[in-house]
Amino acid sequence: MSFNIAFFASHNGSNMQAIIDACKSGRLKSIPALVISNNSKSGAIERAVNEGIPSFHISSATHQNDEERNEYIISLLKHYNVNLVVLAGYMKKIDNSIIEFMNGMVLNIHPALLPKYGGENMYGMNVHKAVIEAGESESGATVHFVNSNYDEGKILKQSRVIIEKSDTPEILANKVLATEHQLYVDVISLLEHGSV
Ligand code: GRF
Repeated sequence: MSFNIAFFASHNGSNMQAIIDACKSGRLKSIPALVISNNSKSGAIERAVNEGIPSFHISSATHQNDEERNEYIISLLKHYNVNLVVLAGYMKKIDNSIIEFMNGMVLNIHPALLPKYGGENMYGMNVHKAVIEAGESESGATVHFVNSNYDEGKILKQSRVIIEKSDTPEILANKVLATEHQLYVDVISLLEHGSV
């Protein structure tokens, strides 16, 4: 099957770009339908404009009321016939109403080997600092379904990287990110083929 994908992204959007590129090259059958960002200056919005994908800045600045904001997001998901939401560095919690509307078809990528190093404050460099401070010898990234608790939905696939003694959190972040693009594309391909 093929998906009409909505990307939710707050910053650079390199994972989103990797998936868009895979759709363009035919590696994926899906179609990038929509980009939503809570950050009007994000690289993700810029990438969407460059790719000609409809993009929307939606945040507490555009909609103060949580319920109205979520209703607006759902109206866009309906309008663009979205059947897969891909969170790609999205810094806001996804409301249950959106997960329910999507029948759970909401994916996230997390830069650690869940179930370790997940949860509310585990994002960005916090994750990599915690992994290194704990003296782990490996880390990686996890693609999982999203449920109402941070980083707790069903795990679909993980990548792994070896941690060297000399690795800083920044070095580790780059190593992990280098595996994320392929991992995210692989999981969407598996979903297209009904293999997960
Ligand atoms: C990635 O490290 C991802 O694991 C995390 O946010 C980062 C997004 O990077 N959820 P990018 O915006 O896709 O470049």
